[in-house]
Amino acid sequence: MVDVRHLSHILETLLVPLYFRASETKRGGIIEDREAVSILEQIDYDFSTIKEDWKTEVAIAIRTYCFDDILSKGVKEKKINTVVNFGAGLDARFSRFKNLKWYQLDMPEVIELRSLLLPQDHSINISKSVLDFNWVNDIKEKENVLFIAEGLFMYFSEAEVKEILMQISNNFRHSYIAFDAVSKSVVGDGHKSIKIDTAPIKWGNYKLDEVLENTTGLCIDDVYYPYMMFKRKWKWEAYKSLFPNYKYQYKIGVLKTTS
Ligand SMILES: C[S@@+](CC[C@H](N)C(=O)[O-])C[C@H]1O[C@@H](n2cnc3c(N)ncnc32)[C@H](O)[C@@H]1O
Repeated sequence: MVDVRHLSHILETLLVPLYFRASETKRGGIIEDREAVSILEQIDYDFSTIKEDWKTEVAIAIRTYCFDDILSKGVKEKKINTVVNFGAGLDARFSRFKNLKWYQLDMPEVIELRSLLLPQDHSINISKSVLDFNWVNDIKEKENVLFIAEGLFMYFSEAEVKEILMQISNNFRHSYIAFDAVSKSVVGDGHKSIKIDTAPIKWGNYKLDEVLENTTGLCIDDVYYPYMMFKRKWKWEAYKSLFPNYKYQYKIGVLKTTS
């Protein structure tokens, strides 16, 4: 068993999606992530608070479904051949998209944990913060790259998010960035399964196009609204979708570089 209690709380956030990808897989739901199930069996951690949070469970299952769909379309329709996984955590999507070249970027202690728990992953690891823009030089391919930031940008300030987007727009051609964004109304809150003071939400927006203000060389390629999808999974929460702006509360956007 691997003890992960030494991880700081922002890094601990990676356990939430891992846990819910495994539970959705075990119940035969909308995603299948066998690697998540086997990683979870190797981790020594008390998941009792996390497992209570059913709405996050639904959101993570749908988010995983959407990012898988973005990759499938990227391969079939957009000539994507390389994926850079920002804030990779213990994500094992590489095992579902084996024909792509993968880079996994996260803080050094997480990359170390990945090597222990995912020895079968032969991706190129980048052990640095996404805010250390030297990662641009670590990525040899400069076109047809898909960057993914799943469960990451909400922990950064707006200026930091835009700086990351500009690095992509300035250095990569025919490339895409997919990320999820919460509503501005939850900025300052914490994640229900994680202590608020250690992983506060710093960035959100109402409509996706707000992210393009003061950026250049990017445009919207696609948007998914998880609260409007798989409505049966949302149970009584689904009635909120009758309110016109409800869908904007949580979205997954894909931007593309215009050069
Ligand atoms: C909510 S987890 C999501 C993990 C993964 N994307 C997934 O869906 O399972 C957030 C991840 O972002 C990483 N992270 C936080 N700040 C980071 C930074 N400045 N640079 C790179 N990764 C960071 C954490 O270590 C963690 O793995």
